[in-house]
Amino acid sequence: MFYETARNDHGLPFNPLKACVVPRPIGWITSMNAKGRINLAPFSFFNMLSYNPAFVMFSAGGHAVDEEKKDSVAFIEETGEFVYNMATWDTRRAMSETSLIIDRETDELAAVGLTPAPCRLVKPPRVLESPVNYECKLHQIVILPGKTKHDIHHVVIGEVVGVHIRDSVIVNGKVDATVLKPIARLGYKDYVVVETVFEMEKATPEERIKPAHAAE
Ligand SMILES: Cc1cc2nc3c(=O)[nH]c(=O)nc-3n(C[C@H](O)[C@H](O)[C@H](O)COP(=O)(O)O)c2cc1C
Repeated sequence: MFYETARNDHGLPFNPLKACVVPRPIGWITSMNAKGRINLAPFSFFNMLSYNPAFVMFSAGGHAVDEEKKDSVAFIEETGEFVYNMATWDTRRAMSETSLIIDRETDELAAVGLTPAPCRLVKPPRVLESPVNYECKLHQIVILPGKTKHDIHHVVIGEVVGVHIRDSVIVNGKVDATVLKPIARLGYKDYVVVETVFEMEKATPEERIKPAHAAE
């Protein structure tokens, strides 16, 4: 099938667009405003962009109540700092609950009973229940156009300045994804959890010259 995004004429009962870029990692973002109010929200338009120096990004649409900037974006604009917390199988319920709290005054971290832990280089707290936390300094906010205010997205790009990794997820010197059990977004209401991992060596120059199917 083929459809034009401008027409949205896919003919399916549900829009397939987000189901076709999967799995999307979930950036569970802590931020703090100038008054010290804390915010925590998940974003699946999230990824790592580079590693030396390391940059991460998340992209937020309009707020459910007034279509203005979401709290995460407004807070980060004010103070220039945020924390990426990894969403995992164990934290899945709390992660989902933090997305539903749209009251701007509420500290979602406290509201869902998570534990704030201090960061070393930035002021927003990290989520202690998350096995990985990246301390980030705002680099740039890019605004993507949208037909409605709700559709306008703020892409927040931050430089990773500090990395917390729970010692117990490091096995034989490597971060073990099967111990972390990160969750990620698929389309619709679906998620995926990392439980099996496979390793693949880089192709040798000889293998690259001869496509794999040619040898069969
Ligand atoms: C798994 C998951 C992924 C989400 N991803 C995004 C996203 O990428 N962009 C976005 O604008 N909202 C996303 N949301 C919705 C936000 O988390 C929600 O609007 C939240 O209330 C925003 O909080 P804030 O206004 O406190 O920043 C997601 C929700 C869930 C549960």
